[in-house]
Amino acid sequence: MKVAILGAAGRMGQMLVKLAEADADLTVVAKIDIAPGYDAEWPAETQAVIDFSFHTAVAPNIEKAAAQGIAYVVGTTGLTAEEQARVDACAARIPVVQAANYSLGVNLLLDLVKRAAAVLGPAYDIEVVEMHHRHKKDAPSGTALMLANAAAAGRNVKLDDVACYGREGLVGERPEGEIALHALRGGSVVGDHTVMFAGEVERVEITHKAQSREAFAAGALRAASWAAGRTPGKYDMRDVLGFDK
Ligand SMILES: NC(=O)c1ccc[n+]([C@@H]2O[C@H](COP(=O)([O-])OP(=O)(O)OC[C@H]3O[C@@H](n4cnc5c(N)ncnc54)[C@H](O)[C@@H]3O)[C@@H](O)[C@H]2O)c1
Repeated sequence: MKVAILGAAGRMGQMLVKLAEADADLTVVAKIDIAPGYDAEWPAETQAVIDFSFHTAVAPNIEKAAAQGIAYVVGTTGLTAEEQARVDACAARIPVVQAANYSLGVNLLLDLVKRAAAVLGPAYDIEVVEMHHRHKKDAPSGTALMLANAAAAGRNVKLDDVACYGREGLVGERPEGEIALHALRGGSVVGDHTVMFAGEVERVEITHKAQSREAFAAGALRAASWAAGRTPGKYDMRDVLGFDK
C-alpha cells in the first residue's frame, strides 16, 4: 500500500514514517511538510494520505485527495467548524477516517465512559482532565472532547448544552448534569486522560495514559490500509477496529 504522510517532520509524522518504513506491506511515497527538505506534494500513485499536521492544512489537502480519489486519514485535531464541514463534504467522494485518537485503549475507553455515565447518572459529577506536553497547540484535546461526548451520549444529553471549559473566579455551585473539561500542559507528556465520576460516597475514575506516540501511529497506519479502496464515507477508528457502534 502506497501511503503519503502529511506533517512528516512533526512528532507524530516522524513516528508514522518510522513505523511505515518498517512495515513490508507499506511504501512511503511522500513525506510532506512545510519544513525544509521535505516533499511538497504526493505522487498520483498514492493510495492513502495520513494527515497529522495543523488544522489549517487539512481542508485544502483533503479536497485535493478527494479530487484524485485517494483515501484520507485525519489525525490532526483542533479543526474549526468550517474546516470540519469541508472534511465531511469530502466523505461523499472518498473514504475518510477521522479520529481524535487512534489508540486501541482510548477507543475502548469511549465504550467504558458511555456505560459508566449511563449507569451512574447525573448524581455523579463528570470531570474530564487531560494532560499533554508543552508544545500542544489546541485545548482541550480532541480526545478529551471525544470522551466528554461519550459521557454526554451515555446520559442522553448534548455536550454543548452541559459543557464547562475550566473554572475561574466566583463560579457558584456546580450545576447538576454539568460535564467539565480541564487541560493541563507541561513537559513531555504524550497524552493522559482521566474521566472522573464524583458521587457523594464514592468516586470512579477511568484513566488512559499513552506511553508512546506509537500507540497513535500504529492505529493510523492500520486505518490507512483499511480505508484504501473502501466505499466513500465517513469512518472512525471504531469502524476500523470493528467495534459495535
Ligand atoms: N488523532 C490522534 O491519535 C493524534 C495523536 C497525536 C497527535 N494528534 C494531532 O496531530 C497533530 C500533529 O501533532 P504533532 O504533535 O505531531 O505536532 P507537530 O507540531 O510536532 O507536527 C506537525 C507538523 O505539521 C507540519 N505542518 C504544519 N502545517 C503544514 C502544512 N500546511 N503542510 C504540511 N505540513 C504542515 C509542521 O511543520 C510540523 O512538522 C496535532 O493536531 C495533534 O493534536 C492526533
